[in-house]
Amino acid sequence: MPYVKVAICGAAGGIGQPLSLLMKTNPLVTELALFDIVNTPGVAADLSHINTPAKVTGYKGNDELAQALAGSYMVIIPAGVPRKPGMTRDDLFNINAGIVKSLAVGIATHCPKALICIISNPVNSTVPIVAEVLKQHNVFDPRKLFGVTTLDIVRANTFISGAKNVSVQGTEVPVIGGHSGVTIVPILSATPSYSEEEVKALTQRIQYGGDEVVKAKDGAGSATLSMAFAGARFANSLLDATVAKKSGVKECTFVKSDVVPGVEYFSSVVEFGPEGVHKIFPIPSLNAYEKTLFDACIPELKTNIQKGIDFVKNA
Ligand code: NAD
Ligand code: LMR
Repeated sequence: MPYVKVAICGAAGGIGQPLSLLMKTNPLVTELALFDIVNTPGVAADLSHINTPAKVTGYKGNDELAQALAGSYMVIIPAGVPRKPGMTRDDLFNINAGIVKSLAVGIATHCPKALICIISNPVNSTVPIVAEVLKQHNVFDPRKLFGVTTLDIVRANTFISGAKNVSVQGTEVPVIGGHSGVTIVPILSATPSYSEEEVKALTQRIQYGGDEVVKAKDGAGSATLSMAFAGARFANSLLDATVAKKSGVKECTFVKSDVVPGVEYFSSVVEFGPEGVHKIFPIPSLNAYEKTLFDACIPELKTNIQKGIDFVKNA
C-alpha cells in the first residue's frame, strides 16, 4: 500500500474534529496531518491514542502550514467561519475566500498533486478560488479538485426515506447543481412516487436543510456532525477508488464540468478512478418541476462561480 497522508485544514473546528476522528478510523490512511490556527496540538494528542494505523501529527499556525501539507495525498478543507441565523452562505465569502485562497497557495506550493476536498462555504465560490490559484501556479488538475456537496445527498436520503418510512440504507437520491439554496437541485423523480405537494416540501427541506441546523444552533454555528459524516463518506469514497483501486465508486460532487454549457463548475454524479475524476455523468432526465429548479439554479450558480474567479483574478 502507498504512503497516504491526509491533511485536514481547519482540523480543530466544529467539523474538523469529528471529521479527523472519522478519518483516523480509515485503515487506508497512513498519516493524518491536522492543521489549524488554534488547538491542533491537543486534538492531535487526543486522536493519536486511538489504536488504528494512521499516525497523527498536529500543526498550529501558518508557520507550520508547509510541514502540514508537504507530501499530502489528500487535503480536506473545512477551515473558515460558519453561518449565524439570518446569514446566507455568500455572506461568508468576505472572510472565507481569503482563508481558502491562502490554503490553496500552500497546496500549490507544497503538495500540488494532492486530491483536494473543499468543505468551506460558499462552496460554489471557494472551489473556483482554489482552481484559479492552482492555475496561477500551473498545477491545476481538474480531476483532483472537489467541492463536497455530500451533505445534500445525505440529507436527501434521510428526508426522503423518513417521509415514506422506507429503509434509508437503500435510498440514494442524486442532488445536482451547487451547494446553497436554489442552486441545490434534488432529483426526486429518481425515487418512488411522491405526491406533488410531498415533492415540493421535500425539495424545500433539502435545499434549506442547512438553515434548519443554523436556526436550531441559534448562533452557535452550522452543521458540524452531519457534515463530518458526509465529508468522511466523500473522502473515503475517493480513497477507495484512488488508493484501494475499487471500480465503480460514484458520488455527486461539485467539479470542473462541461455537462451544462457555460457553467464551469457543476455538481452531478461523478465516477472516481485512480487519478480522481474518471467520468462525469450527464444530468439525468428532468421532469417539469425539476426543470424549473434547474432553471432557477443556473443564474445564481454562474454568479457565485464568477465571484470566486474574480476574487483571484482581480487580486
Ligand atoms: P468552526 O468555526 O467550528 O471551525 C472552523 C475552523 O477553521 C476553526 O477551528 C478555525 O480556527 C479554523 N481556521 C480559520 N482560519 C484558518 C486558516 N487560515 N487555516 C486553518 N484553519 C483555519 O466552523 P465549522 O462549523 O467547522 O465550519 C467550517 C466551514 O465549513 C464553514 O465555512 C461552514 O460554512 C462550512 N460548512 C460546509 C458544509 C458543506 O456542506 N460543504 C457543511 C457545513 C459547514
Ligand atoms: C450546510 O448545508 O449545512 C452547510 O453548508 C452549512 C450552512 O451554512 O448551512
